[in-house]
Amino acid sequence: MGAQIAGPAPLRNTALLGLGVHRPERVVTNAEICELIDSSDEWIQSRSGIKSRRFAKAHPEESVADMAVSAGAKALEAARLSGAQIDTVIVATSTYPMQTPQCAATVADRLGTGGAGALDISAGCAGFCYALGVASDLVRAGTAEHVLVVGVERMSDTTEPTDRSVRFIFGDGAGAVVVGPSDEVGIGPTVWGSDGAQGNAIRQEPDWVDFAQNPDQKRPWIIMEGTAVFRWAAFEMSKFARQIADKAGVAVTDLDAFVPHQANLRINDVIVKQLELPDTVAVADDIIETGNTSAASIPLAMEKMLRTGQVKEGDTALLLAFGAGLSYAGQVVKMPRLAQ
Ligand code: UT7
Repeated sequence: MGAQIAGPAPLRNTALLGLGVHRPERVVTNAEICELIDSSDEWIQSRSGIKSRRFAKAHPEESVADMAVSAGAKALEAARLSGAQIDTVIVATSTYPMQTPQCAATVADRLGTGGAGALDISAGCAGFCYALGVASDLVRAGTAEHVLVVGVERMSDTTEPTDRSVRFIFGDGAGAVVVGPSDEVGIGPTVWGSDGAQGNAIRQEPDWVDFAQNPDQKRPWIIMEGTAVFRWAAFEMSKFARQIADKAGVAVTDLDAFVPHQANLRINDVIVKQLELPDTVAVADDIIETGNTSAASIPLAMEKMLRTGQVKEGDTALLLAFGAGLSYAGQVVKMPRLAQ
C-alpha cells in the first residue's frame, strides 16, 4: 500500500467580492470610424446600436497588461484586499500581443501578489465567463482562496481600420473581479459550450506561421461573418440563458438584471424577447458607448449598470457571454461592490 493522498477540502460557496474597470480616455465616434470605411453613423447605429467606442492609446502605451493592471487594482480596492491576498490571476483575452509569457503572470507581478498562480484563457468574447467559471470552481474546491479574473482587449490592434465588416463594432477596455469564498451563494453553476464546426465565422486570417512564410500578404486580422454569428447568437442564446437560470434555481422573471455580451443591441433585443423578460429585469446596454470589447464586455457592462444605478450591489444578474469558437458561457451572480 502506498501513501494515502489527502482528499479535497469540503466544497464552499463563492462570490464576486469586488469589480473594477479600465476605460481608455479616447472616445472614437462613428464619424471617425467612417473616415476609413464606407459606412455612416446612421447605418452603424441602426444595425448595431453603437454610437461610440473607446480606443487605447497607440501601442505600446495603454497596453493590454496596463489596462488589466488598472482594472485589477480597482477590483482589489473594491474587494478591500491587497495584491498579496490574491493567489491566482486569470486573464481572459484574445489580443495580448505575445503568446509567451502569458499576460496573467505580468499582471500578478505588477499587482504585488508575490507569486500567484497565473494563466490566460482564450475563448474570444466568451472568455470572461469561462474565466469566472474556472475561478469560482477553484475557490469552491479549495485550490485557490482569492482569484483575480480580468477580461481585457485591444480590439483596435486586431481589426483592420479599412474593413467595414468589423472595424465599427469593436472597442478597447478591461474589467476585473475578485472571486473569493462566501457564506451565501454569490456565483451559480457555470454553463458553457462551443460549436467548432462554425469556428470560421470569427477567425484570424492568416495564421502567424503562414504570415511569417508569406510576408507579402496582409498581416493577420480578425475576419467576421457577421450574419452567421448574428443568427447563431440571436437564436441559440436564449436556450443557454434558460439553462443557466435553471441550474441556479432562479426563474428568469425573478432576475434583477440580464448582462448579455455586448455584441449588438439587436441580438440582445431578440434574446430578451425570447426569454420574455419583464420590464423589472434591467438589461445591460453598455455597447452604445463602448462597442464590443470582446472578453472585457461583461465586466464593463456590469460596471455601467452599478455606476448608473440600474442595479445595486447584491442584486441577482444573469451573465451570458458568446463569440469566437463559436463558444458561450454564463452564470447567475450576485452583483459585486464597485470600486469608488
Ligand atoms: O463579439 C463576437 C460576436 N459577434 C457578433 O455577435 C456580431 C454579430 N453580427 C452582427 O452584429 C451583424 O451581423 C453586423 C452588425 C456585423 C452587420 O449587420 P447585418 O445586419 O448582419 O448586415 P449585413 O452584413 O447583412 O449587411 C447588410 C448590408 C449589405 O448590403 P446589401 O448586400 O444589403 O446591399 C452590406 O454590404 O449592409 C452592407 N454593409 C454595410 N453598409 C454600411 C455591411 N457592412 C456595412 C457597413 N456600413 N459597415
